[in-house]
Amino acid sequence: MTVRLRVPTAEDAGAWTELFDDAEVMRYVGTGEVHDRAWYAGFVQRQRELAGSTGLCLFSVLVGEEVAGFTGVQPWPQPWGPAGELEVGWRLGRRFWGRGVATAAGRAALDRARSLGVPRVVALVHADNAASVAVTRKLGLVQETAFRAPSGTPVLQFGTRLTPPS
Ligand SMILES: CC(C)(COP(=O)(O)OP(=O)(O)OC[C@H]1O[C@@H](n2cnc3c(N)ncnc32)[C@H](O)[C@@H]1OP(=O)(O)O)[C@@H](O)C(=O)NCCC(=O)NCCS
Repeated sequence: MTVRLRVPTAEDAGAWTELFDDAEVMRYVGTGEVHDRAWYAGFVQRQRELAGSTGLCLFSVLVGEEVAGFTGVQPWPQPWGPAGELEVGWRLGRRFWGRGVATAAGRAALDRARSLGVPRVVALVHADNAASVAVTRKLGLVQETAFRAPSGTPVLQFGTRLTPPS
């Protein structure tokens, strides 16, 4: 599976809005709420700023010329969980599932993080999200802990080193 990553463009906010306006896509993401174009415009802008300052962000995933979703590495954004860590994450529109896209894109994102000297990443996955757990494992992350988010959601935390300790 050949995929490309790019820093999301302002137009990608529209693609992400359409791809993720789907309860099945959002089933294991946060509260499951879908968001509108204005929300994704702000989200994309924050990712662009993050890319400018760190070289990493949630990148748009391209399959051919089509935007399929995002993957990338960003600071863990919640007040609970692994404070201060960098998380790897992925989200695709449903028509792109089941073709190895997330694994290929996640691997490309981890390669970028490694080349920038990121020592370690974590992935936080809803315990029932079998597809995401499978991607996490295929990328070499191993389960470190399991806990409940403040909402009560059962969460598995995976992690891996990218660069050896100095
Ligand atoms: C999770 C997600 C990104 C996976 O994308 P994808 O491109 O289909 O993933 P891949 O094809 O690279 O790998 C999926 C793996 O999960 C497996 N899988 C899929 N559904 C599964 C299920 N219900 N039970 C067990 N394994 C499952 C596939 O067989 C595959 O493993 P394999 O290659 O060993 O056969 C995609 O389903 C998605 O966007 N989901 C909604 C958003 C989301 O939940 N994001 C993650 C939040 S932590």
